[in-house]
Amino acid sequence: MGYHTITVEIDDYVALIRLNRPDALNALNSELLGELSTALTEADANDKVRCIVITGSDKAFAAGADIKEMSQKSYVDVFEEDLFTGPTEAILRVRKPIIAAVAGYALGGGAELAMTCDFIIAADNAKFGQPEINLGVIAGIGGTQRLTRFVGKSKAMDMNLTGRFMDAEEAERSGLVSRVVPVAKLVPEAMSVARKIAEKSQIAVKAAKEAVNRSYETTLREGLQYERRLFHSLFATDDQKEGMAAFLEKREPQFRDR
Ligand code: HXC
Repeated sequence: MGYHTITVEIDDYVALIRLNRPDALNALNSELLGELSTALTEADANDKVRCIVITGSDKAFAAGADIKEMSQKSYVDVFEEDLFTGPTEAILRVRKPIIAAVAGYALGGGAELAMTCDFIIAADNAKFGQPEINLGVIAGIGGTQRLTRFVGKSKAMDMNLTGRFMDAEEAERSGLVSRVVPVAKLVPEAMSVARKIAEKSQIAVKAAKEAVNRSYETTLREGLQYERRLFHSLFATDDQKEGMAAFLEKREPQFRDR
């Protein structure tokens, strides 16, 4: 499918989706969000894809929602279209793992998009921020909620109230990103992490993703119960037999996703 604001490449079971509006630092307009939702839904349904990477350019992952597109909207406009909710729901429906590979600016909706992915790998030049306060609004798709769960109340409050940016080193220290790599190595590193995930049993991968994400939605007791039930259920798979046999026979497992 021909896209205007993103590119999609599939290589070795990994779909690499690049946000591609360089003139606007990948600001998220409705066309880009629509294309991203379609690409993610297609990647989730494609047997040749086992893990997804979303990235931007070296200068910007995404500098936020498109301010030009938003500026003249009324309350009724944004309420009726429920701005950003559709694309966010599309990301959350994807069952395959999604890695955000972030270089440069990840601001406002850009930071929120990255946080909606399963985890974030950052380049050493990454800058995260929720600067909506400078526009007379606040974050609208997780900047006050997901960020708080990642980095705690104090830093989340600081960032949402002052609009200051957090660099890659602080983001790693605070638990917002899983690792930091030099900017030139960002996409190769994210692709190599994605390929590693693609080699695992995809049933176990989906179970692990669901279980970790469930920890954000429920109590510890319910989450542990959910995890235990998923753990038990994996003993019904051939891949559990294969994985454990391979360990005991000192060989690499051959997972068949069943
Ligand atoms: C539209 C944007 C944009 C944005 C940058 N551009 N960010 N256009 N929406 N969010 C455009 C600029 O207008 C400019 O276009 C070009 O990209 C390059 O940007 P510059 O500002 O010239 O670059 P620089 O000086 O390097 O500064 C980079 C920057 C700055 C610090 C990232 O661009 C910036 O502050 N951007 C806005 C960040 C922001 O407030 N994001 C939050 C948006 S609100 P021209 O045509 O002039 O060359 C949001 C709400 C989400 O995300 C909630 C949804 C429910």
